[in-house]
Amino acid sequence: MFSATDHAMMARAIQLGELGRGIATPNPHVGCVITKQGRIIGEGFTQAGGRPHAEAMALSACTESPEGATIYSTLEPCAPHEKSRGPACADLLIEAKVARVVSALHDPFEGVDGKGHERLRDANIQLDIGLMAPQVGEQLKAFLARVSRKRPWITLKVAATMDGKTALLNGQSKWITSAESRRDVHLLRSKVCAVMTGIGTALADDPALTVRDVPCNRQPLRILLDGRLDVRDDMQLLRGGNSLIVTATGNEARAAELMTRGVDVMRIPTEAVKGKTDLVAMMHALAQYHRGLNHIMVETGAKLNASLLSAGVVDEIIFYVAPSILGDAARGLFALPELTDLKDKVELKFSDVRMVGPDLRITATVNNSAGEASCLPAS
Ligand SMILES: NC(=O)c1ccc[n+]([C@@H]2O[C@H](COP(=O)([O-])OP(=O)(O)OC[C@H]3O[C@@H](n4cnc5c(N)ncnc54)[C@H](OP(=O)(O)O)[C@@H]3O)[C@@H](O)[C@H]2O)c1
Repeated sequence: MFSATDHAMMARAIQLGELGRGIATPNPHVGCVITKQGRIIGEGFTQAGGRPHAEAMALSACTESPEGATIYSTLEPCAPHEKSRGPACADLLIEAKVARVVSALHDPFEGVDGKGHERLRDANIQLDIGLMAPQVGEQLKAFLARVSRKRPWITLKVAATMDGKTALLNGQSKWITSAESRRDVHLLRSKVCAVMTGIGTALADDPALTVRDVPCNRQPLRILLDGRLDVRDDMQLLRGGNSLIVTATGNEARAAELMTRGVDVMRIPTEAVKGKTDLVAMMHALAQYHRGLNHIMVETGAKLNASLLSAGVVDEIIFYVAPSILGDAARGLFALPELTDLKDKVELKFSDVRMVGPDLRITATVNNSAGEASCLPAS
């Protein structure tokens, strides 16, 4: 059904979509190409804040009339819905009298959910769905996770030695990995909606969790998980706003004090058994925070790493591995309870391996993520 030209044009649309990563949020970073007789006449990608959409931008960028053209869009063009902040892309394409629409994926967002495709079909436009769906599913996995599972995509980032150690027993940890790896982390931060840490790390390291030393159009939200509101007034996370503290305590006076400093405070109930913040409930709340958080990168210590894994809310882990060994007495990455049966191990699947300066960067997906069906299309 799809030609080599179709593949090349969709590959270009995917490339364009990347330009909107990190800025289109909470909308998906969609790419679009408009062609006539195999020539590109217009290109677009979802703009900052999610509007204009890729298709609208590509139509307005056309160098000649789009009548009779073929449109390649990485996601189903939107249909009108109550949360629309502009004209629906399906209607714009119908008005422009395009002849054929090729889209990679169905958009599960409730306002669209097949209605964009249906509108195009009803207007007798040739519709071909599914081209390069696995690639686009990977590119838009965080948006798809939030919309279909009602939880953000969670990436855990850890830095360790070859023997999985993060610090000496006496706490010395600066620096395990190289300057190149630390810069790479800033690049990752620039592409996510939010960066999260736990109060243990905040008290030990006082991180700013901002993007520095790399190009960045907007800073990600900073999230601190602080069950008892132990955050200190002089911490970097409280400077410059754009921070959210998630807590389990009902200490309204302290919460109000923090809010006068421009920090938002979200209260999440504690898990009945362990008296800790309910991490699953927290993720569902974060999926709806403001206009929605698609992708959160967690940079925290062994305790919260373990709790997030045990709660089944981690989708992938990025390991920066330094070519060094600290020995068994040093501190580890995941403070999980002792396992007595190997079948209880956390299973991972490597998805990417590369060198960053002298270090290795390994990305692995977690197999048991909240026991819910994958939001990605089958490859
Ligand atoms: N190498 C690396 O990749 C890396 C990255 C970051 C940090 N670190 C190091 O990690 C060390 C700190 O680690 P840490 O394990 O002490 O602290 P942590 O994991 O950063 O934070 C743990 C704290 O988070 C709070 N929390 C709230 N809800 C929780 C829940 N449901 N489950 C678990 N914790 C919850 C708990 O305090 P409350 O009970 O008060 O809420 C808990 O003490 C630092 O030395 C830092 O340098 C290493």
